[in-house]
Amino acid sequence: MKITIRLIVSLTFVVALVAIGSSFYQVREERIRLASELERRVAILAESLRESVIPLINPDSPQKLHRLVERFGNRERLQGIAVYDSQGAVLASTADLKEQASQPIPQVVRSITDNQTASDFIHIGSKKTYIYALPLIHEDKTLGVLALFHNASYIDVRLSDIWKHNLFRFLILSLLVVAITVLVVRWSVTGPIAQIASWIRDLRMGKEKAGRPFISPGKDALDPLISEVSRMAKSLAMARADAEEEAKLRLQADSLWTAGRLKEHMRVELGGKKLFLVSNREPYVHTKEGRNVRCIIPAGGLVTALDPVMRVCDGLWMAHGSGDADRETVDDNDKIRVPPEEPAYTLKRVWLTKEEEDGYYYGFSNEGLWPLCHITHTRPVFRLDDWSHYRTVNERFAEALLKEIAREKSPLILVQDYHLALLPLLVKKKRPDAKVALFWHIPWPNPEAYGICPWHQEILLGMLGADIIGFHIQFHCNNFLETVDRFLESKVDWERFSVTRGGHTTSIKPFPISVSLESLTRMAPAGEEAPKEHVRKEIGVQADYLGVGVDRIDYTKGIPERFRAIERFFEKSPEFMGKFTFVELGAPSRTHLKRYRDLMAEIEETVEKINWRFQTKKWKPIVFLKAHHSHEAIAPFYRASDICMVTSLHDGMNLVAKEYVAARNDEDGVLILSQFTGASRELKDAVVINPYDIEKTADAIRFSLKMEPAERSGRMKRMRATIKEHNVYRWAGNLITELARLRLPETVS
Ligand code: G6P
Repeated sequence: MKITIRLIVSLTFVVALVAIGSSFYQVREERIRLASELERRVAILAESLRESVIPLINPDSPQKLHRLVERFGNRERLQGIAVYDSQGAVLASTADLKEQASQPIPQVVRSITDNQTASDFIHIGSKKTYIYALPLIHEDKTLGVLALFHNASYIDVRLSDIWKHNLFRFLILSLLVVAITVLVVRWSVTGPIAQIASWIRDLRMGKEKAGRPFISPGKDALDPLISEVSRMAKSLAMARADAEEEAKLRLQADSLWTAGRLKEHMRVELGGKKLFLVSNREPYVHTKEGRNVRCIIPAGGLVTALDPVMRVCDGLWMAHGSGDADRETVDDNDKIRVPPEEPAYTLKRVWLTKEEEDGYYYGFSNEGLWPLCHITHTRPVFRLDDWSHYRTVNERFAEALLKEIAREKSPLILVQDYHLALLPLLVKKKRPDAKVALFWHIPWPNPEAYGICPWHQEILLGMLGADIIGFHIQFHCNNFLETVDRFLESKVDWERFSVTRGGHTTSIKPFPISVSLESLTRMAPAGEEAPKEHVRKEIGVQADYLGVGVDRIDYTKGIPERFRAIERFFEKSPEFMGKFTFVELGAPSRTHLKRYRDLMAEIEETVEKINWRFQTKKWKPIVFLKAHHSHEAIAPFYRASDICMVTSLHDGMNLVAKEYVAARNDEDGVLILSQFTGASRELKDAVVINPYDIEKTADAIRFSLKMEPAERSGRMKRMRATIKEHNVYRWAGNLITELARLRLPETVS
């Protein structure tokens, strides 16, 4: 209430000040206007009278002068007229003025002495009067003075009316200000604050759903507060959930990995040491949007999996600073604490020139190694220039990393993916005490396919600098061991799955990466607007059944194949026309490369063709939402969709499949999954397909949509149990433990 009163008092004070000031000004202007109007009128009258009066100034015949004076003297608001001789004696005056006119009047005296017009406002009795004295001159001789007495009290009446009206206006304005202030304060401040307070109270008392965000009533001013409080509540909910989970674990002596358990585990294993993670892609990209800077989380499995791990382990993540606002947001050491809303670890950015990015990232990594490792019939391209940039950039990363680990004894380093294959050896050469793991997020091909790379040996040597090389599945480990066996002089141990070369041993192991079930479940809490309704509104299509695909637009994901299977599904099951819509959330990726631009055009054309063929006024078979979508934006689509399609032609793991399962805490939905993904080895309850087989994929869509609820939920339950156990914390726990417990030759006493 205090704030309302303060606001009302200060606003009323300001309104009063403005009202008084403006009235004062208005009154002053009006007074000047009325006075000058009066002066002008009286002067004209006096001038017109003067000519008639002069011939009548004759002391011998005063009657004519009297008659004239009487005739003119009773005009409206004119109090009277008097005529004086040159000595100031009254020659004639109107009857009402007789007494006053005979008194000496200063203006009359002044007019006689100065031989000039004299005028002023005087008071006659209580009446305000304007007196105008005009000398009567004939042939250069002053005969006397004509004096006009005009009533001026109407001016004061007029001015006091103005004050009264303005006071009335001020009162009305004040009332309106008070009413509006009370309404606005209640509507935008006190009301929402009361709502937030009650929401926090419910949260504290456990009545509110854990982590359910506060629904902002759209009060702009309070939005920052609401979003901060929502975040705090989310952290509280997460901490509560972790604590509950921990408690459950302790009770059941369970083997489940959680964020809390990984944190505790890392504390013990690392003994206070920092973890160093290096990848090409950074987890947070700052980009310019007009004058603002926006922070986005890039699409892709690597970031999805590793960010939750780093949040728990702290440490340093080194990556290429690729955003156009990245330089503005780091400190002098090119570092920034992330995530921005709840800093938990350090991101160090490494800068590359345009040419380096072109050769190393687009060229060698994505036109060479990427298609080389994925068997998808896109021919790899190897250029000497790209290779030399690739080497330079790996050296650049190594240099930056060596600087960071200079003071660390036996540091733990996790190198990520095919962009940095040479890094392990570059680091190990300088720091043999460092413990280095390289995790390869994409498939490893067979030796014949791999052998076409002109620098196949250099790459293998670079990788084998690591103490551990991780792949998602055993099959890729086997391919790698065979490749090494084929191309390098080394000892391949098929029992221990290791390679020894020049006295250094590298173990090759599968570490199937995953997601955090809890964070996805929390992103889609139950109890709000039904997700299907939400999605239908968002896409503007009415359909009973929904399907979803979430991909970076990449030729390895089998997106055109998926759409062709959907087209075939409608041909084979026309009863689903108007009833089933497939939503593709596609994030444009590596668009600098022609192959990716061509793919985008192919996808758009395919969607257009299928939609044109089947769509009706209110319905269409495919909605293609081409944009970068945040995890929060994707979650409702996962929850709304009866089926999720992952049709990769070749994929190391594919975390979209796991995310879909993790998001379905309602234990519903069917996952259609390509047999060529790493995920298909774990998610046995998915409907597994060969994406090249359009007929069977079309049948799988029908089969999934017609699946009995009991079977659906049975399958989903089992897949959720798998992911709950094989989550990303377990992945990190296993990999980091293995690395931390390594006994390097130098460290053996
Ligand atoms: C795959 C790779 C990652 C990469 C991601 C996104 O998952 O294994 O290393 O980060 O795709 O691709 P991008 O080229 O945008 O980093």
